[in-house]
Amino acid sequence: MLTGPVLLIDPPADTDLTELPGPVAIFHDHQPDHDMLARRHPMRDAIAGPAGGVVLSLPRSRAAQRDRIAQAAALGVPVLVDGQKTDGIDTALRAARAVGRVGAVISKAHGKLFVIEGGDFSGWKAAPGRVDGFAVPTGGFSTDGIDPGSAALIAALPPLKGHAIDLGAGWGALSRAVLSHAAVTRLDLVESHRPSLDCARANLADPRAAFHWADATAWRPAARADHVVANPPFHRGRAGDPGLGRAFLDTAAASLTPRGTLWLVANRHLPYERHLSGLFAEIEELSGSPAYKLFRAARPRRPR
Ligand SMILES: C[S@@+](CC[C@H](N)C(=O)[O-])C[C@H]1O[C@@H](n2cnc3c(N)ncnc32)[C@H](O)[C@@H]1O
Repeated sequence: MLTGPVLLIDPPADTDLTELPGPVAIFHDHQPDHDMLARRHPMRDAIAGPAGGVVLSLPRSRAAQRDRIAQAAALGVPVLVDGQKTDGIDTALRAARAVGRVGAVISKAHGKLFVIEGGDFSGWKAAPGRVDGFAVPTGGFSTDGIDPGSAALIAALPPLKGHAIDLGAGWGALSRAVLSHAAVTRLDLVESHRPSLDCARANLADPRAAFHWADATAWRPAARADHVVANPPFHRGRAGDPGLGRAFLDTAAASLTPRGTLWLVANRHLPYERHLSGLFAEIEELSGSPAYKLFRAARPRRPR
């Protein structure tokens, strides 16, 4: 018998929750999924009680898996861990058995479910990450240091001025470089992964910076900007999705003034050129590297 609602942590946005016994509450770190679920279910903004049980969708990175399990187990209620083989559910199960009490294990097509019934998982809580003096999120992007593609874009940026936007800002590596330009008056950081944005906030104590936990494909600025910088994502979960990067370019074009400029870095294999030429009248490829291409795109075309 459950003593409170089932707390779901990071469930896929299309999860069918009708089969769950009793009320549910949901915590989600990815803003687009959070918003989609919030239309139908009560949301929590922390992994906290009251809860009668937890259903935890296992994240991909090992550090994030352990951290999540530690947070869920700290609630002192049964934790059902749901994971894919490709994300290491078998390793997580073995490790959980070595630390705590694991009950039922259910195999499914591409993964497993197992129930943690008790145990002290506090040693699995991730310490706050730091790299080169910056806060970095557990399980976020480029937590070992500045991404080489972003570093290449930073090196190619001319002096910027006015209002800038960083789409998919992560923990703020590109944003920090933008704010180093004294003539930048405002920077909007748009990021969907809550822990990454929290780190960016901690890393950039600058009154010119505004932080938006938002889906960059749907977000629009209050006023059009002079510059957009972006190192767009090209994966959703494990699946490659160049459409996500293209949607970032749509937002960039829609967010710039007629004289505004997009500064873009992309892995060399990503096919953005055609899409860029539909969106911008002027495109210049800057000198990149064997792994990365850099673009300056100006004069956004407006839909008629
Ligand atoms: C390639 S990383 C670049 C991060 C950062 N700009 C840097 O240079 O280190 C792309 C970032 O986009 C974020 N992201 C993914 N999907 C997003 C979305 N729909 N809206 C906003 N940000 C998103 C990811 O969480 C990640 O931080």
